[in-house]
Amino acid sequence: MKKNILLIFILLLISCKSDDNHNESKNSILNDNLQKLQSPNKNLDLSFQLDLNGRPIYSLNFENKAVVLESGLGFIIKDNVEWMKIDTLDMMNNFKILDVKFDTKDEVWRPVWGEESEIRNNYNEMLVELEQSDSERRLNIRFRLFDDSFGFRYEFPQQKNLGSFIVIDEKTEFAMNGDHTAFWIPGDYDTQEYNYITSKLSEIKKKSIEFKEENVSMFRFSDWGVQTSLMMKSVDGLYINIHEAALIEYSAMHLEFNPKSMTFESHLTPDAFGNMAYMNAPHNTPWRTVIIGNSASDILASRITYNLNEPSKIDDTSWIKPTKYMGVWWEMITGQSTWWYTDDLSSVRINETNYDSLTPNKTHAANNIKVMRYIDFASEHGFDALLVEGWNIGWEDWFNKKKDYVFDFQTPYPDFDIEKLNKYAKEKGISLMMHHETSGAIRNYERHIDDAYSLMNKYGYKSVKSGYVGRIIPAGERHYGQYMVDHYIYAIDKAADYKIMVNAHEAVRPTGVARTYPNHIGNESARGAEFRGSKLNHTTILPFTRLIGGPMDYTPGIFEMDPRKNRPDFTPNLNETLAPGSVTTTLANQLGLYVVIYSPLQMAADLPKNYMRFPDAFQFIKDVALDWDESVYLEAEPGEFITIARKQKGSDNWFIGNSNGYSKRDAIVDFEFLDTDKTYTAKIYRDAEDSDYASNPQSYQIEEIEVTADSKIKITTVPAGGFAISIFPN
Ligand code: NOJ
Ligand code: CA
Repeated sequence: MKKNILLIFILLLISCKSDDNHNESKNSILNDNLQKLQSPNKNLDLSFQLDLNGRPIYSLNFENKAVVLESGLGFIIKDNVEWMKIDTLDMMNNFKILDVKFDTKDEVWRPVWGEESEIRNNYNEMLVELEQSDSERRLNIRFRLFDDSFGFRYEFPQQKNLGSFIVIDEKTEFAMNGDHTAFWIPGDYDTQEYNYITSKLSEIKKKSIEFKEENVSMFRFSDWGVQTSLMMKSVDGLYINIHEAALIEYSAMHLEFNPKSMTFESHLTPDAFGNMAYMNAPHNTPWRTVIIGNSASDILASRITYNLNEPSKIDDTSWIKPTKYMGVWWEMITGQSTWWYTDDLSSVRINETNYDSLTPNKTHAANNIKVMRYIDFASEHGFDALLVEGWNIGWEDWFNKKKDYVFDFQTPYPDFDIEKLNKYAKEKGISLMMHHETSGAIRNYERHIDDAYSLMNKYGYKSVKSGYVGRIIPAGERHYGQYMVDHYIYAIDKAADYKIMVNAHEAVRPTGVARTYPNHIGNESARGAEFRGSKLNHTTILPFTRLIGGPMDYTPGIFEMDPRKNRPDFTPNLNETLAPGSVTTTLANQLGLYVVIYSPLQMAADLPKNYMRFPDAFQFIKDVALDWDESVYLEAEPGEFITIARKQKGSDNWFIGNSNGYSKRDAIVDFEFLDTDKTYTAKIYRDAEDSDYASNPQSYQIEEIEVTADSKIKITTVPAGGFAISIFPN
């Protein structure tokens, strides 16, 4: 305490002087108020201080190398009086330190599902309590240093001079110590469904302008903007990842790069008025996180994102189960079937249009006969669930029409007998997976959500795939703004009341919130298999970016890469090797994805008839586990290759997956992670010599060998190829 009184005295002296130095840059920081924190193993060093303007500044070193140079913190805010033209307020400068408190934690917790069954949460903490000299507004910053990472958040405590307010801009900086290679997607308020770009930081603008990809929700805000989780590699081989954790009651953070200062600044997602967040003290921001490692695998092994989230809010989690599913789905994605029931009308009105009087279009997939066939197949091959999309009325004009009452999530089409099909599925050990496409009409979804979840309970649905395609209604709201962040949590929280698991598509990218709501078992929020035509190295980057926040419903397992070949009337064009809309990987790569792309919810996305053509390869999808005791990141280099081994929860079985990028490569698999007193049979599903993602993707080899902890093998992978291995003890 004495130390703090002395500190306040020094700070008072500094703030008296600071007017003279008003234009000084942050380089002339006075060290008198310097605060330091080290990670438990002392690998990471954090420095915090106030500069001459009283602005909070931090910097971060890893093994004595600078990772984040002196970077500013703070906000521009405004009183929450929307209808008055009032000035913005500075919450960046003129701070003094009131107090600094230290804490430490070392605990182990058990996630409901995950890449490992025990997670260690070990950090040193520093809480800096600040007050602005003039306004007496208070702001606390809580820093946590783990051995592999760093996180901090802003906390606005209850106080006299700041109650409800608007964040106009968050001014968090991450000053980079070099022109790193980055793996990024353009900053966008509405979608992450992009291919990744690999470039130097200084090239972001150029590459952004060159990048012409389009999808229905895109709203790119700047040529220097990128999304998180952002993966980087420095010239001296340091791996650095910036993301956020616990995105709750706030808007998602993007990063805007300033090439002159080589600094990223936070760029929040605005609402229709351009406001970034609405705050009511006491109110915390999400955590801003930086993971650092000497190897790419260190980034994958970090658990900071979950550790910075609150423990489960759900006490009884016995109903939350990892799920392997198929779907009446891929045939719609590849254009052979439709979600909608009729072609008679180009617009419909829910509960007014009489579907019984309309002509069925014969392409509507969610019909009784077809769904039963899928149930039979899924049951015969040991799946848990079957997704059926297009079961409910409204799909005739569902898309981008700014239609509020677009679905009721209640009324099945005339050819979908919800009661009979659920009964049939149950008898066969399958639970149907509900589908709630909201079409971005949020008020409409929230209006129906209780009835929709009740309907699920009535018929025994355990999980729902929700979706947010297109522009959001209310107009001007963004997929990643606070309004929508609140909605996603509302939908998950409410689902928990009904014991329903949620897999949200087009929602905000995850930030570890599934620790708090473990019924949130899936999320898309990136370019999944449905896009097809992805860059060859796409899935070697996803684990370093999108997956840092939580699992992805990537929907792997495509065995027929050329969608035209699914059509009965297909006649080959012999001049064309890679048809538009093709999946750009080998079949062995598709198998590897079940381990590479972690998710407790895994789909076998292709059509049953394609699995029947390759039953020996399908066996891997049937065998592979969904929940893990342990994960070992064997080899990884973002954009190039990745090999992961995982031990099935509560079993001695292991599974390995590999995905390869642009170049042919020999992967080395060292089995040293196996028990030393056991022998195992490893079944290897790998690219064949003649495999080629474009001309011969379905060529693969399967071989069985005996392995022990001393085994080490080489497996050749072709471009966009890969392998999968199941390992069972003898
Ligand atoms: C986009 C989702 O990602 C896709 O899986 C779904 O089939 C369509 N929306 C329709 O809801
Ligand atoms: Ca999607």
